[in-house]
Amino acid sequence: MKIIKEPSEVREYIRQKGLNREEIGFVPTMGYLHEGHLSLVRRCKQENSFCVVSIFVNPLQFGPSEDLAAYPRDFDRDSALLEKEGVDLLFAPREEDMYYPDFSTVVKENKLSRYMCGAFRPGHFDGVCTVVLKLFNIVQPGRAYFGQKDYQQLQVLKRMVRDLNVPVEVIGCPIVRDHDGLALSSRNVYLTEEQRKEALKIPKALEEAERLFKSGVKDVKALEAKVREILSEGDGLKVQYVEIRDAENLEEVNEIKGKVVIAVAAYVGKARLIDNKILES
Ligand code: PAJ
Repeated sequence: MKIIKEPSEVREYIRQKGLNREEIGFVPTMGYLHEGHLSLVRRCKQENSFCVVSIFVNPLQFGPSEDLAAYPRDFDRDSALLEKEGVDLLFAPREEDMYYPDFSTVVKENKLSRYMCGAFRPGHFDGVCTVVLKLFNIVQPGRAYFGQKDYQQLQVLKRMVRDLNVPVEVIGCPIVRDHDGLALSSRNVYLTEEQRKEALKIPKALEEAERLFKSGVKDVKALEAKVREILSEGDGLKVQYVEIRDAENLEEVNEIKGKVVIAVAAYVGKARLIDNKILES
């Protein structure tokens, strides 16, 4: 596995190899890799002859009071994992090589980004769109793989690619969960054993919503309320939002028709956790 830090060297390496877009698959990450990330890498390997992974903790997508400095990092472990998966190129730029000191251009998606996480993390999706477009321009892949764990991120990026004619196919991949049902996240390392038990209420509440939905409950407010109620038992979990929205444009819905997403964000201690489930009638 080749490791490159300089953006310009990536272009040069790909040119030397004579690769074209259609052969290149790409998985952008912020590192501290787990099986969720690796599931994207495996799918990328299956569908592309050349697999690129990036590791970059993007300062632009963290708010001033968020966990940028504390965000977990372990480059040696990550690169060993990627090597074992047979990744061809690991791109791990330094911050100063991604953002000029007088950096002044951002990509802003103006609709889907305003809801859900966007309402609580101002500027977050601008940071995500900007870095992902930069990474796309550096790596120039034909396909890029993102997890449905970050459901809103996936939809925002699909919209960006559509609106700006970015020649990359954005592919969404299923959520990978731990044996107990908790969605894997780099941020799970923040949880104590006790907090982890609290966190498990999130997948349990989503499962209950799915069960109710399958048994005929189609009322959005009733399902949202049920999930909130489960999450609010005890005081270990601080709910930020529980929302059912259209699965593609993320608009509010009154009744469940077609495909919707039920999405949750909650704090357990200092860890902000998100999870979701697709409900389809
Ligand atoms: P990060 O949180 O490292 O996640 C990288 C990719 O892994 C994202 O597409 C995310 O949705 C996916 N992922 C994380 N946990 C997952 C799980 N349990 N199951 C399936 N996929 C999972 O998301 C980011 O980084 C950044 O915002 C990034 C897109 C790299 C831009 O900086």
